[in-house]
Amino acid sequence: MKYRKLKIALLSITAVLLSLCTMAQTEITVRLPEPTTSGGMPLMDALRLRESIRSFDTAEISEQQLSDLLWAAFGVSRPEKGLRTAPSARNWQDIDIYVVMSNGWYLYDHTEHALVRKGREDLRTYTGTQSFVATAPVNMVFVSDHSRMGEGVDEATRSFYASNHAGYISQNIYLYCTSEGLATVVRGLIDREKIREVLRLTDNQQVIFAQTVGYPGR
Ligand SMILES: Cc1cc2nc3c(=O)[nH]c(=O)nc-3n(C[C@H](O)[C@H](O)[C@H](O)COP(=O)(O)O)c2cc1C
Repeated sequence: MKYRKLKIALLSITAVLLSLCTMAQTEITVRLPEPTTSGGMPLMDALRLRESIRSFDTAEISEQQLSDLLWAAFGVSRPEKGLRTAPSARNWQDIDIYVVMSNGWYLYDHTEHALVRKGREDLRTYTGTQSFVATAPVNMVFVSDHSRMGEGVDEATRSFYASNHAGYISQNIYLYCTSEGLATVVRGLIDREKIREVLRLTDNQQVIFAQTVGYPGR
């Protein structure tokens, strides 16, 4: 009897250790190349040419493009104050960008300008209801963390600000993609519950919308 209990205890410990090892292997930080923070297309041209494109090539974008894209989206532009490329009410900086690609899904860490891999699965198909999401190279999901908004702000107000904050980030991405010759479309046609489930979000987190990026389809 004693031996059996000991065996069960050892097996449980082994299972916990194994799952910790798997998590440790999954959660790696991938540093992005230094972002290109100057140049690009003249602003007025980018505004004139900006458009939503819904046809994507399956070709990957380069690491440099991914770096520049995320920096343009919501990177740190004024490091001395920790301020970013998009504004947020009371500087809450509540939006997190989940980056969903064929080789896994990641959280953008703006302080390190890095991607933290959260899982190895290809979850692209869950990021929207339009067929191109499953094969386009990059799908980003904008998630607001309401716990960064402080006390005394009601649910409707938090949601209102969160949507606005994601909008600014989305437009930064549109302008970057226009300048870089990449295709993009922001997407509200998403299954928020499914995304909550697959990205393992907490009750404090609100899925706002998603955005796809890649080379234009031929
Ligand atoms: C909040 C928001 C949600 C949108 N959702 C979708 C969407 O789910 N799927 C889609 O194909 N386009 C979506 N769009 C893109 C719009 O359809 C597009 O911006 C509009 O048709 C105008 O085209 P333009 O962006 O080229 O100016 C969305 C745009 C916004 C601002």
